[in-house]
Amino acid sequence: MSTTLTVSYSRHGKPQEVAYNEEQTLPAVGEKQVRIEIKLAPINPSDINTLEGTYAQLPELPAVGGREAVGVVVEIGSAVKDLKVGQLVEPPPALGAWRQQVVADADKVLPFPEGLSVEQAAVLSVNPATARLMLTEFVDLKPGDFVIQNAANSGVGRSVIEIAKARGLKTINLVRREELIAELKALGADHVLLDDDTLRHKLKEVTGGAPIKLALNTVGGDSAFRLTFTLAQGGIMVTYGGMSKQPIRLGTGLLIFKDIQLRGFWVTRWYKKASREQVLTLWEELGALARKGAFRLPIEKRYPLTEFKQALEHAQQSSRGGKIVFQPNP
Ligand SMILES: NC(=O)c1ccc[n+]([C@@H]2O[C@H](COP(=O)([O-])OP(=O)(O)OC[C@H]3O[C@@H](n4cnc5c(N)ncnc54)[C@H](OP(=O)(O)O)[C@@H]3O)[C@@H](O)[C@H]2O)c1
Repeated sequence: MSTTLTVSYSRHGKPQEVAYNEEQTLPAVGEKQVRIEIKLAPINPSDINTLEGTYAQLPELPAVGGREAVGVVVEIGSAVKDLKVGQLVEPPPALGAWRQQVVADADKVLPFPEGLSVEQAAVLSVNPATARLMLTEFVDLKPGDFVIQNAANSGVGRSVIEIAKARGLKTINLVRREELIAELKALGADHVLLDDDTLRHKLKEVTGGAPIKLALNTVGGDSAFRLTFTLAQGGIMVTYGGMSKQPIRLGTGLLIFKDIQLRGFWVTRWYKKASREQVLTLWEELGALARKGAFRLPIEKRYPLTEFKQALEHAQQSSRGGKIVFQPNP
């Protein structure tokens, strides 16, 4: 019987303190199952919050860390018809992603679209999916319409820029570091501004007074407060993260006189409700963009599972140049 290395945890706390390496037994592949070798698994902010015990959905403990991964099918059961050896797939998120191999039920394994690199597939199901859904589920945006977002250099933010560009939307991107401006413009951002009190004065210059109907907020606090002032009558601010850990405020006047709306988005909720067909349709749309070069989200460093402490500490640092990912089978 073979074993597989994991990064697991059996209590909540500081991720680098509660995580540990574990050798788990790998069961034999059943007739409706597949064995997957994990190629890359990002450490997303939600994974950190899950280990801390502060996330909205927590697995039973002990658990294997991580939700998102790309793996390659290395063995299939005799009754599995729609997956093949060598295919890039997403293992079931509930099993935990930070592991070398996993044996999973084939009907819970999702194939990535053809023609994606391992790096593109590793981040497709969370960040680009979130970006695409937020751009379409709340406001009926037309080509030429403006969207504004904070933390525009995040994985989600970069995906918003690329998807918006493909749809003919114009993006106003707020960042907290000047050195990101050229990088995001090269990615297709129409405007990149510093997320500070100068925003109000600069905004008219970039929009020429055109209305902004959608704002995407993942910071909260002062940054979200600034976003609410940029919105047109009836505009919607969709909040999908809270990186500053500060609550959201909305001026009374904006609520009464401009009917500004605050909404929330959680991609996990979407995946829970969506059929397998709806997920694969969304991924195919994202895959088409990926094949044209989108979603090459920068990776700052790859770590083996044995270096989980350094990896988890690194993932919690701000001002990173890209994602921190586990490469469980270097
Ligand atoms: N609701 C959903 O369905 C959903 C889906 C995906 C992601 N998310 C959330 O979206 C957020 C971004 O995720 P990601 O994977 O795209 O992240 P990421 O690539 O790791 O980027 C993190 C971003 O947060 C910024 N940041 C970090 N600490 C901050 C602070 N204290 N104040 C302001 N900005 C701060 C970083 O800016 P610097 O580079 O300047 O440090 C960077 O832009 C997270 O909160 C995540 O949980 C939500």
